[in-house]
Amino acid sequence: EKGGHDYFMLKEIEEQPEALANTLRGHFDHGRIVLDEQRMSDQDLRDVDKVFVVACGTAYHSGLIAKYAIEHWTRLPVEVELASEFRYRDPVLDRDTLVVAISQSGETADTLEAVRHARGQKARVLAICNTNGAQIPRESDAVLYTHAGPEVGVAATKTFTSQIAANYLVGLALAQARGTKYPDEVAREFAELEAMPAAVQKALSTVDRVRELGRRMADSKAVLFLGRHVGFPVALEGALKLKELAYMHAEGFAAGELKHGPIALIESGLPVVVVMPSPKGRAVLHAKLVSNISEIQARGARTIVIAEEGDDTVRPFADELVEVPAVPTLLQPLVSSVPLQVLAAEIARTRGYDVDKPRNLAKSVTVE
Ligand code: F6R
Repeated sequence: EKGGHDYFMLKEIEEQPEALANTLRGHFDHGRIVLDEQRMSDQDLRDVDKVFVVACGTAYHSGLIAKYAIEHWTRLPVEVELASEFRYRDPVLDRDTLVVAISQSGETADTLEAVRHARGQKARVLAICNTNGAQIPRESDAVLYTHAGPEVGVAATKTFTSQIAANYLVGLALAQARGTKYPDEVAREFAELEAMPAAVQKALSTVDRVRELGRRMADSKAVLFLGRHVGFPVALEGALKLKELAYMHAEGFAAGELKHGPIALIESGLPVVVVMPSPKGRAVLHAKLVSNISEIQARGARTIVIAEEGDDTVRPFADELVEVPAVPTLLQPLVSSVPLQVLAAEIARTRGYDVDKPRNLAKSVTVE
């Protein structure tokens, strides 16, 4: 049952610490990352010279986040592509290409066809999936399961953050096999991942405050979301959640693109959600975002800022401030996504919509 919550999605949002811990469990053994022993060897991983991530919707956003970590850790080029686009162009694939197919359901038609196309071109395919024995893992060379548990709400929440963790395991396994990270560095990165369930638990302390904010935002016509670096895909995901649940026009932008068009949308009272990087971890990006916020605030936007605890520089520019715990930059999406999930759900509920079953959507999209 909904565990005393108004809607399943809220329960599933609150299950994220446990889902993350379950996804990570068992993947670090005797000082090494272990992915899928049976089907993908260290040699297979060493041979990889390019990575493609293919997925749809929210799973695609988890892939966009992974690109930052995998390229940084492995020095391998990573392309992230919508499965529905990947399969209809002629991507450059061979036996040294690793294709990571991310799908919560494991049944998404476009992602499945992308897997078939990649295998037809001799690429190796690793599936990241939340559903045991689904079609996509069955047709892949290897599988890494997220153990988020069944997700009842149509909108992906705990499976999204679990996908991010699983993607990071893939990145660390590649770095370990290629030697681009020393064993002690891999161990340290894994330890940071293992600290995330507790950090996400802390981020959940924003739930009541964000629900109250959502109730006040429920009659907005549109909401914009801005971010930089890993905060950019978080902004895209925040916008997708709002569209699908609250049927509200929402767009996510890379904050650096503001002046290239989107700033023309800013008008008095328009809510703009900004995902801030850490003032310490990413000082340069932080300063740029503060300047972006001051510009949109000067044009009358209502700024809703998701920032690291104790970030005082951004405070004067935040009409609403939501503080999340300080974590390493690459792991920030795991905490900053939490308030955006809650915001979308609560706006939808206030508008009278069924949060768990948004109109026109299905949990598993088996037609193209
Ligand atoms: C959004 C959402 C969808 C799915 C997409 C892919 O909340 O749930 O965008 O992420 O349909 O689904 P899977 O992961 O099952 O392939």
